Amino acid sequence: MTNRHGSLPAQGRSWAQIKSEMESLAENDFDWRAGRLGVYVFNAGEDVRTVARDAYSMFISENGLGPAAFPSLRRMEDEVVGFGLSLLEAPEDACGDMTSGGTESILMAVKTCRDWWRAQGETERTEIVAPHSAHPAFNKAAEYLGLTVTRVPVAADFTADTDAMAVAVNDRTMMVVGSAPCFPFGVIDGIEQLSTLALERNLWLHVDACVGGYFAPFARMNGINLPPFDFALPGVRSMSADLHKYGYAAKGASTVFYRSGELREHQLFRFGDWPTGEMATPTLAGTRPGGAIAAAWAVMNYLGQEGYQSKAQTVIETREKYERGLEAIGGFQFWGRHQLGLLAFGSDEFDMFAVAEGMRDRGWMSAGLRQPKGMHLMLSPGHAEVADEYLSDMAAVVTEVRSGDRVAVAGGGSRYS
Ligand SMILES: Cc1ncc(COP(=O)(O)O)c(C=O)c1O
Repeated sequence: MTNRHGSLPAQGRSWAQIKSEMESLAENDFDWRAGRLGVYVFNAGEDVRTVARDAYSMFISENGLGPAAFPSLRRMEDEVVGFGLSLLEAPEDACGDMTSGGTESILMAVKTCRDWWRAQGETERTEIVAPHSAHPAFNKAAEYLGLTVTRVPVAADFTADTDAMAVAVNDRTMMVVGSAPCFPFGVIDGIEQLSTLALERNLWLHVDACVGGYFAPFARMNGINLPPFDFALPGVRSMSADLHKYGYAAKGASTVFYRSGELREHQLFRFGDWPTGEMATPTLAGTRPGGAIAAAWAVMNYLGQEGYQSKAQTVIETREKYERGLEAIGGFQFWGRHQLGLLAFGSDEFDMFAVAEGMRDRGWMSAGLRQPKGMHLMLSPGHAEVADEYLSDMAAVVTEVRSGDRVAVAGGGSRYS
């Protein structure tokens, strides 16, 4: 946030000048194109980016708020949602919408769940029970919607402690949450156990597959043995899955899904008491960027199942290479069993904040972990090319930290903020 007032240039400037200024502004950004970021950017290659960018600019002015005016966008959104539903083994009656990102998808699922309970006359149901590792978007949603979240410590393997969650559930619980995978540790929670809990106690189970929704199905097609995490489990009532993460779409694109149209009904907002008459919107946004819808549709068609499978394979092989490399350096421990593109690790032998700072000084940035202390890498296909460089810098930094030549200065290592 800034409170520094600025004034518009008195006269407009040329695009050439503006572009060159933007290029120099970007010079201080971390070089994600060179694989330097282990968070924020999902780099599937220049060709995918070109498709997303061109599709985005073709529909840069169109507005997803007006499907009657833009049947093109309606068709593309329907198809994107349809691709997601079938990847996540949704039943015939399931449906969903595109949103601007994981946070909005989660907000919509929480609001829909709250209003579904209200419609059953259960207005006291205002509590979400989630593992400690669930994304803060659940607390954001709760804060916005007048609800509460009880976070339950994770189990020794860093997945949700489903037994402890069962104990935490009470008469006020409206939703239980599992992640596939969670952001901090990259591990898939025991969604099967949560599904059983949800069915036994008549609870709404939301699976946050923002990270895994467009990755895990392809990993599975490649033969990776993943636990069930999607609508194949009967207790799952809603899911969030981000297109702008491992769907490799342009930013501003996610999906929220419901097991049935009857559940999704409670997501809709309708209002008619103003001069224009009824306005109905499915999600939080009014105006919705046509570009984000078009780019997601285009990238999905460009990659197809084969393309996504191949990207998933590259990412998993890269993650394995990072794991082997870190093991060879020595002194690291992995936080949980990683099966997708995320990797979380720490150390009992040296200070991980000092390691994170050392890597940052060498131009590598990733999210830090505080409980327990560690680092986190969210890998994308682009990281395949820089794994050796990363590992050799890591070896050098660990040597510095072990010898005492480097100590943590900022005291927090890298941050996710
Ligand atoms: C597991 C998980 N859920 C939700 C989100 C929120 O997504 P967004 O940043 O698109 O709002 C993230 C973001 O990293 C995530 O990792």
